[in-house]
Amino acid sequence: MDPLNTKHILYTQFDTFLAGPSKKGPFTGFVNDSIFVEDGERWSFHRALLRPQFARQHIAHLDNLEVITNDLLKCIPGDGTSVDLQQYFLDVALDSATALFFGESAGAVQHRLALLRGETPDHPWGAKFSSAFDICQALLLIKFFYRNFHAWYNPQELIDAKKECFGIVDNFIHKAIRKHGKAARAAKASKPDVEADETGSKRRYIFLEELVKYSEDVELLRGTIIGLLVAGRGPIAKTLAFTFHCLVRYPEAQEKLRKEIYEHFGSEFDRSRITFESLKACKYLRWVIDESLRLYPSVPFDARTASKDTYLPHGGGPDGMSPIFIPKGSAVEYVPYAAHRRLDIFGPDANWFRPERFETLSQEMARGTEHGAWTYIPFNAGPRTCVGQQMSLTEVSYVIVRMFQHFEKFENGEFSQFVKLDMSLNMGLGGQGARVRSFAK
Ligand code: HEM
Repeated sequence: MDPLNTKHILYTQFDTFLAGPSKKGPFTGFVNDSIFVEDGERWSFHRALLRPQFARQHIAHLDNLEVITNDLLKCIPGDGTSVDLQQYFLDVALDSATALFFGESAGAVQHRLALLRGETPDHPWGAKFSSAFDICQALLLIKFFYRNFHAWYNPQELIDAKKECFGIVDNFIHKAIRKHGKAARAAKASKPDVEADETGSKRRYIFLEELVKYSEDVELLRGTIIGLLVAGRGPIAKTLAFTFHCLVRYPEAQEKLRKEIYEHFGSEFDRSRITFESLKACKYLRWVIDESLRLYPSVPFDARTASKDTYLPHGGGPDGMSPIFIPKGSAVEYVPYAAHRRLDIFGPDANWFRPERFETLSQEMARGTEHGAWTYIPFNAGPRTCVGQQMSLTEVSYVIVRMFQHFEKFENGEFSQFVKLDMSLNMGLGGQGARVRSFAK
């Protein structure tokens, strides 16, 4: 939780402290070839493959989100019945990620809506994928905790769940290769590249279709997509859940946010007013999300492994402020959850939800000070900064705006004074989840 050490691990000595070794073993077999488990040249290759895709993703993203959020709002009871919003947000994040990556949503929100209405759901692969994917994530964390003995832990449940996930993802990969791979492109080469499909509408941006232009290696594509689904779904859903968890406990912040949202986007849904740019420009909304990520970062701790004998700037000597020797092969963990709550840096109210603190903190972050840039790291920092940051902030902001436009107010639906945290591959609310009572206008 020392900013100088964090900077040293994630930036100054980036090439010495490797991300792969602690993850590669346990996650091999699920994400064999993926940015998350690679270092060096292979990591650079993955990073170069992904970055351009994320720079363009927001183009189509809000269209997907609009459809999914419309269904979400129909699912949430508006009569003050307490429900766990985290479960609903997990559905939203899965649907929006699959719509963007595959061009076809898993339909998890529609599935929930159909069940609530007593109808028969008709998204056969979505429900199967969602439950197999959850099993994989939960069991892989156990595998991760086995560290060097991870190979001992390989239950049949995990083998079956992986098979289910791979089958579904591979189907989409083969379909994308057939439609947009090298052979398909060669066949179309004589025709001009038009931005419209047969119906004349603007072509929707689909991640997998872009990826197959760079590679048709099924294992690489599968690792990339599954890795992105792990990285994207949980953190987005859980950030949303924690944000509402905080807002119902801090009604003044909720009221202030409502005013800002109405000012920026109106009190009723008007699609022309909610854009990538307008979401970014709503300062208080951004501070609310930043503050929620400060108290509850989705990646609360992480590890790197020293690739040679090295040191950390702080930790040695009688007062812990001298350098400390780190032998080759040692795992070094850094803990944003603890760093984000340092009283000496964030002040005596560090454990409180106070979005206004970002008025000054965001300036420090922009200046790159150790306190700002290297203490507050929900999206990591340095060369391995999260590539999905903009996508996440857009999606989280969008859903919050729509929820506030649709409902009059939100109240706490759970009265335990203890917050239970749940740790799968990322941190969420445990116990009863994010229990919130929503009141329709
Ligand atoms: C609130 C949402 C999110 C949070 C808090 C978050 C946080 C993080 C963190 C802390 C890391 C660093 C992990 C490490 O180095 O070990 C990371 C990396 C990454 N994230 Fe995110 N993430 C979020 C959403 C997303 C989304 C939506 C995507 C894509 C769909 C994504 C894609 C990635 C990728 C590809 C990396 C690896 C970057 C690299 O190693 O170069 N993330 N994220």
